[in-house]
Amino acid sequence: MAKVLVLYYSYYGHIEAMANAVAEGARQVGGAQVEIKRVPETVPDDVFKKSGGKANQAAAIAQPSELANYDAIIFGTPTRFGNMSGQMRNFLDQTGGLWMSGALVGKVGSVFCSSATQHGGQESTILTFIPTLLHQGMVVVGLPYSEQSQMGIDEIKGGSPYGASTIAGGQGERMPSQQELGMARYQGKHVATIATKLFG
Ligand SMILES: Cc1cc2nc3c(=O)[nH]c(=O)nc-3n(C[C@H](O)[C@H](O)[C@H](O)COP(=O)(O)O)c2cc1C
Repeated sequence: MAKVLVLYYSYYGHIEAMANAVAEGARQVGGAQVEIKRVPETVPDDVFKKSGGKANQAAAIAQPSELANYDAIIFGTPTRFGNMSGQMRNFLDQTGGLWMSGALVGKVGSVFCSSATQHGGQESTILTFIPTLLHQGMVVVGLPYSEQSQMGIDEIKGGSPYGASTIAGGQGERMPSQQELGMARYQGKHVATIATKLFG
């Protein structure tokens, strides 16, 4: 079995919804064993609640060292100033030991994200995430154009060859659309298919 981890951070629930769709897609691949985990929150509990934090926190919290147990890791993060969230960065900055031992070399890595606005940095978030994966020696997989809804201009939506994404709205009022969830499922299935060929 190829082991696939969907590892995310979410504050208001948009990435959490995308993570569930990514996992759903990955589970469609026979021979893939899929888990969803989240990185730890770094915002104090009272501040999280007062500021409207509502990701349901159902997923187990991952430990940095356990990334070595998976064949593929699909990372989900909200855009923060055009980059990944600090919570995700903090988690990844604790993987120096894995880098030292080469524990992630040859594993599959992929990224999806969410931003408030259409041009608020979805592509820069994924593209600035990728160097971390390459330093770890991971094989980077995106969202190929064979997922054709990213070509459509029928509605405002996220999604690019770099990875699935969703537009949350300035107040977080917009949850991922059906097309965005479809792209997330496609990415999960695509990564799991590749991981199964490599490791299954
Ligand atoms: C500190 C901070 C910085 C942010 N920076 C951006 C940004 O650069 N571009 C953007 O479109 N949205 C930005 N946002 C909005 C988040 O991307 C948005 O809340 C997130 O995608 C929602 O996903 P979540 O519900 O999974 O947390 C920012 C939000 C915060 C709190």
